[in-house]
Parts: sequence; C-alpha cells; structure tokens
Amino acid sequence: MNKVAHILSIGMLLAGSACQDLEHSRQVDNPDVRGKTIALQVCSNCHGATGVSVSPTFPKLAGQRKEYLVDQLTDFKSHSRADPNAQRFMWGFTHLTDTQIDELATYFSSQSAVLGETSDLALINEGRTIYHSGLPDKGVVACVSCHGQHGEGMNQFPRLAGQHADYVTKQLEVFRQTDTRPRGAVMKAVCANMSDREMRAVAAFVEAFPPEEETSASPPVDQ
Ligand code: HEC
Ligand code: HEC
Repeated sequence: MNKVAHILSIGMLLAGSACQDLEHSRQVDNPDVRGKTIALQVCSNCHGATGVSVSPTFPKLAGQRKEYLVDQLTDFKSHSRADPNAQRFMWGFTHLTDTQIDELATYFSSQSAVLGETSDLALINEGRTIYHSGLPDKGVVACVSCHGQHGEGMNQFPRLAGQHADYVTKQLEVFRQTDTRPRGAVMKAVCANMSDREMRAVAAFVEAFPPEEETSASPPVDQ
C-alpha cells in the first residue's frame, strides 16, 4: 500500500469510529436516523432529492398525499405490495420504523409537485375525457371523483398530476391483471374494462395535466 493510500485508510478508520453523526448517517437500519436524512441519502438515489424522479421506473413522490405514502411504505414493509418492481426495489426497507415512515411521508408530501410535458395532444384530450367523465359504456368510473379536480388526490387517494405516464400505465396494468396491490380492489374495478390505448391516454393526460385551453384543438377564431 503506498503512503497516501495508507494515510487515507487510517483517516477513514478514524472517521468511521468517530461517526456518531446521525444527520449524515447512511445506516438506514438505525431506528434513530431521521426520516429526512434517509430521504436525502437513500431514497433520493431513485426518487430524487425532492421526490421528482427522472426515470419513469421510479414514481415521483413530490406532493404525493401523506396518508397514501404511509400506506404504501407500510405495504412494502410487510411485503403485501408485491408487483415485481415493488419486490425488486422496495422490499428491502423492512427496518423502517413507524416514526421514520411518518417522517418520510411528511418530507415527500411537502415537496412541490412538478408536472410533465404536454406531448401528444390527441392522446391527452382523449385522456382528459376519461379522467373527467369516465367511460360510461364500459363501466369505467370518472377518475376525478376520487383523484380530484386537479389530480391532486386526497388522503388515501393518491395524487396523479405530474406522475410519469409510463409508471401510471404500468400500475393500471398491475391493478387490472393482478392482486399484488393490497388496497387495489377499487382500482381493479375501475380499470377492468379499459383498453391499453385508454390507459395510455389517461396516463398521458395526468402526467401533463394541462388546462383545457392549452390543448384545445380549435381555438376560438376571435382570439
Ligand atoms: C433502488 C431504487 C429505489 C430506492 C432506493 C427507493 N425506491 Fe421507492 N420505489 C422504487 C420503485 C422502482 C418503485 C415502484 C414500484 C412499483 O412499480 O410498484 C418505488 C415505489 C415507491 C413508492 C410508491 C409510490 C406510488 O406512487 O405508489 C413509495 C412511497 C416509495 N417508493 C418510497 C420510497 C422511500 C421513502 C424510499 C427510501 C426509504 C425509497 N422509496 C427508496 C425504487 C426505489
Ligand atoms: C372510487 C375511487 C377511485 C376512482 C374512481 C379511481 N381511483 Fe385510482 N385509486 C384509488 C385508490 C383508493 C387508489 C390507491 C390504491 C392503493 O393504495 O393501492 C388509487 C390508485 C391509483 C393509481 C396508482 C397511483 C400510484 O402512484 O401508484 C393510479 C395510476 C390510479 N389510481 C389511476 C386512476 C385512473 C386513471 C382512474 C380513472 C380511470 C382512477 N384511478 C379512478 C381510487 C380511485
């Protein structure tokens, strides 16, 4: 070992032994570490420091309802939310205490939600209709009645506005095809008869959640 490496390794040993600083702890399994610290040092790797993830594999958590976050973290912890990505990415967090779960939920729910881009207008407008009116012929209930006028959710009903469209579509498929989300009975009924296209449409709409005038195909001529 060369001299510099040797000094560095001694330094790291000393720092390690003196490391009582829980504010900067990476020991997620230590029950004394605060939720916010875990959020910034662990969860942020996938969900972003403020809960605004980049990849659609990882749901955005910013501005998500606190009650919903607590429910989901509890379900991951008990391994009852069991779709493949939940197992792969979220099942490791069995050591989070109720207090840490509460603090994590408080942290992410108080971050500002960020809407996605407005892309395919035809798809988005199709999705807007489903969101606000449902598909009465197919027994698809309007999303607005539970997820809110602005997709903001309420209590156990999650925020949808801003969520990655690919993640939304994936979860709709999970609800429709499996029973791996323990609180998903309502959603299973909602999307039982939705086609893939309809799922993608409503997902594209909620990700961008644009006001009506931004996407109207034929603006009034007197403008
Ligand atoms: C290695 C990447 C990774 C890390 C680290 C991670 N997550 Fe996740 N998380 C995911 C993935 C992937 C999903 C989506 C699972 C699915 O598709 O069902 C998810 C889902 C969630 C959900 C459900 C969101 C929703 O809209 O239903 C919550 C809440 C959550 N994570 C919170 C956390 C918290 C809090 C931490 C830190 C303790 C954390 N995650 C750490 C990858 C990660
Ligand atoms: C009767 C109430 C109700 C209606 C109507 C409803 N939902 Fe839900 N939705 C819920 C509840 C409750 C959950 C949370 C389920 C859970 O905790 O697993 C949920 C969860 C979801 C999720 C998962 C979010 C995430 O972050 O993982 C998506 C996506 C979703 N709903 C989309 C829709 C869409 C799109 C519609 C309209 C076609 C709709 N919902 C209509 C009650 C409803």
